[in-house]
Amino acid sequence: MNSTIPKIDYKIIVNQNDPSFEDESKKFNYAISQYGFLLLKNTLIDSNVKKNIFKTYKAFFSLTLEEKNEVNMALTSSNRGWGAPRGEQVNPDYNPDYKEIFDSGPFKKVSSKFKNLTYYSENLWPSQLPNFEENVNEYYDLCTQIGINILSSIEFSLGYSENFFRDKFKNPMSLLRCNYYPPRKSALSNKDYGIAPHTDYGCLTILLTDSNPGLEIKNPSNEWELVNPKEDEVIVNFGDMLEFWSGEKIKATPHRVYGNNNERFSIPFFFNPQFDTIISEKANIIAGEYLSKKYDTTYSHKKL
Ligand SMILES: [Fe+2]
Repeated sequence: MNSTIPKIDYKIIVNQNDPSFEDESKKFNYAISQYGFLLLKNTLIDSNVKKNIFKTYKAFFSLTLEEKNEVNMALTSSNRGWGAPRGEQVNPDYNPDYKEIFDSGPFKKVSSKFKNLTYYSENLWPSQLPNFEENVNEYYDLCTQIGINILSSIEFSLGYSENFFRDKFKNPMSLLRCNYYPPRKSALSNKDYGIAPHTDYGCLTILLTDSNPGLEIKNPSNEWELVNPKEDEVIVNFGDMLEFWSGEKIKATPHRVYGNNNERFSIPFFFNPQFDTIISEKANIIAGEYLSKKYDTTYSHKKL
């Protein structure tokens, strides 16, 4: 099946003076409202950045079990550091996911009213890898910058006032993750996924993948479609919060990774607003509370 996932040029949608801006904006509007997924090229994530961040995380997943355990999030009450296989269950109809993860959050000073909240907790870094923290935080900053610009394009695309969304990202609860999907073992059942079908629960996700495709999305024809980005493309999709916040003008699309015989790495950046953002007045949804509920039901170590 030929992919119909919209391809968007980042350089064009962030520049209203570009001669192709209007055409690209139409495509972008279709992508956010109908598809809920898009492939973005010409971002700040060039091949060097990509190579460097994958190399950084691969070094972490190559550590021994004992070394990884030093930053095991199960030993904490937050979601920072290493998450062991089966540490997350995104869909109760399936077994906990077999992937491993490494999570990190905001690393800059946050407003004092938020600083004791779990979304802003201290990161855990592996002591064996001296450049790890710096590389990961640098990439985190880059994604924040791209995320802000995508929000600006969404504001324009939906005819919202400038800063409608962006104003609420001064103390974002963003989370940067690396997923490590080991090769699928033959003993696994069809209830075992690298990550089971789900929608993301935040605002928007900037996803970097390696050369082994595995992500499938529910496309507008209601079929599971394999996403196979080119070397210079990143995947962007939208989560529940942005769907609520936009009055369902933006689509949060289900996706999954079944996995295959080869190992696979992917790096999603979950861009979320600050804790006290009112996502829906009608349904009385506060961003932080919504995220808490999701964290408490998906991370195995946070389940009651
Ligand atoms: Fe996801």
